[in-house]
Amino acid sequence: MKMKKYLLFVTLWLCMEAVAAPTSVSLIPKPEKAEVFEGHFTFRQGKPVSVYCDESAAADLLEVLAEKFKPAGIVLEPVSDPKKAQLAFVLDATVKNGEAYSLRVDKKRIEVRASAYGGLFYGMQTLLQLFPAAIRVPDAVQCADWQIPCIAVEDAPRFGWRGMMLDVSRHFFTKEEVMKYIDELSEYKMNVFHWHLTDDQGWRLAIESFPRLTEVGAWRARRVGDWWTRERQKPGEPATYGGFYTREDVREVVEYARKRHVTVMPEIDVPGHSVAALVAYPELACFKAPDAVNVGNKFYGEDENSLCVGNDSTFVFMEKVLSEVADLFPCPYIHIGGDECFKGFWSRCPKCRARMEAEGLDNVQQLQSYFIKRMEKILKDKGKRLVGWDEISEGGLAPDATVMSWRGMSGGIQAAKEGHHVIMTPNEHCYLDLYQGEPTAEPNTYSMCRLSDSYAFEPVPEGVDSSYILGGQGNLWAESVPTFRHAEYMVWPRGWALAEVLWSGGEKDWSDFIRRVTVHFERADSADINCSRSVYNAIVTPFTGSDGQVWIELGKEIDDLDIYYTFDGTNPDKHAPVYTEPVTIPLNATRLRVMTYRNGKPAGQLLSIETEELRSRAKNTKRVVGNL
Ligand code: ACM
Ligand code: ZN
Repeated sequence: MKMKKYLLFVTLWLCMEAVAAPTSVSLIPKPEKAEVFEGHFTFRQGKPVSVYCDESAAADLLEVLAEKFKPAGIVLEPVSDPKKAQLAFVLDATVKNGEAYSLRVDKKRIEVRASAYGGLFYGMQTLLQLFPAAIRVPDAVQCADWQIPCIAVEDAPRFGWRGMMLDVSRHFFTKEEVMKYIDELSEYKMNVFHWHLTDDQGWRLAIESFPRLTEVGAWRARRVGDWWTRERQKPGEPATYGGFYTREDVREVVEYARKRHVTVMPEIDVPGHSVAALVAYPELACFKAPDAVNVGNKFYGEDENSLCVGNDSTFVFMEKVLSEVADLFPCPYIHIGGDECFKGFWSRCPKCRARMEAEGLDNVQQLQSYFIKRMEKILKDKGKRLVGWDEISEGGLAPDATVMSWRGMSGGIQAAKEGHHVIMTPNEHCYLDLYQGEPTAEPNTYSMCRLSDSYAFEPVPEGVDSSYILGGQGNLWAESVPTFRHAEYMVWPRGWALAEVLWSGGEKDWSDFIRRVTVHFERADSADINCSRSVYNAIVTPFTGSDGQVWIELGKEIDDLDIYYTFDGTNPDKHAPVYTEPVTIPLNATRLRVMTYRNGKPAGQLLSIETEELRSRAKNTKRVVGNL
């Protein structure tokens, strides 16, 4: 008996002494090389960490790091000699690519090496991901010894453009929310924040030459309810919903982003998507500007929303607007939109027709191309490059335009073949406003882009010279995103998949990615970031069989999920029938309920779908069943 106790003691003691360093870490995006080795570096409770950072980067980097360490109770003590530092950020000109870095964590010292700020910053982000999730709890100052595994990381990005867009027109997000978005994307080594500042539903950027753009154009009547089914703003109804950013706000956001190695690219979406501008300055319309900023009511093709290209004052307006934008944003690129421009009013407008005549333009597509080329000229004179959605190719691409391909990859492929730079953001992989799981369990939106669809994104199509593909980005359109919490839900985890696609080269490994996503869910929870777990939900696919019956297939994105279902009105748990193959709907059943389990524990949400809905979905999908 005594001997047994002694053995138990020895075993425990040994276990504690040899706390095994984890053999794998859970970094997103996956680094080029990472080797975990024996041992830990320990940040001791109450003991400041001596830190060195090469002069040119020191203040900004240490400011961000101190902020990230604050909840962990870790205090930095800057020292001037790198050899005396426990944590050193060292500029090293021999590292190729300014965003590449090496990180080495030994038992006594941590060192990040890079040739520029971006690399040092990303070395720091990787370091932070080695900590337990608990260091991310906001507004907490925790006392603990924090251990991170010893590791050697060598890392460099695949693409230079790793973007994330936020539409602040359809719903307004405050300056603080925008900064939080930038901070979150920078944690995953994304480096471009595309700020969609203007649209039919609100102009969000203060322009000194045209104050009514924000006095009038930033405000609309308050509405909730599904987009495009809302009631128009009534005459005299107060326009109390909205907001805008002052020049000071923009400077603050740009500076905040710079410290996080993020470039802020503004978008002024013209010549279409311009209701807000036309309401503020009705003289820019072909015939009659709308009376009110759009509230999410149907209007396309009925109300004017395109700037009149026949009108010289449109170009005076754009010159002044773009001039102020160019002054405010250091980004070498300015996005001028160019998408979904309704041209129906142009073809009837005497001024637009006169312009076409004078410029020898055959059609309204060429008129749009004429407009975009003039925008490019304005931007070039200000030392900026033009980016536009892929519609800018229609009617002829402006000479040095960069194309953002969103209607699939084809616009980008064509532009690259014509020698233009391209940013790939095809909606089927990159539109973060789309459904990410079974629609009946999601807030209302449209179409489908699952986590696995984002992970499957390949920005360089076969046969295209990769040197023309700058990279890609995720886009969060905000028609159905009324709050920042919901923005986070839509962006994460699909944004992690895009971050990995755009940063990491090499083979993809979905199950390893999912393993790491599971860890990052916990990290997001700790940081109070609202990420979606829809990837754990079952995929419900009704179809009409060759036997004429409606069949239900239940699929999954993650292999190790078990799916249970009922048609009898009860909530399925792991004692309900387990799904193995397509099933038909039992006579008189009114509702299918589905639940997933992982390792014997509930994983996804309980899905509950009326059989009427299943039958309706099955109409368009036909499949052979049985041994026919
Ligand atoms: C777009 O989605 N209209 C670019
Ligand atoms: Zn016109």
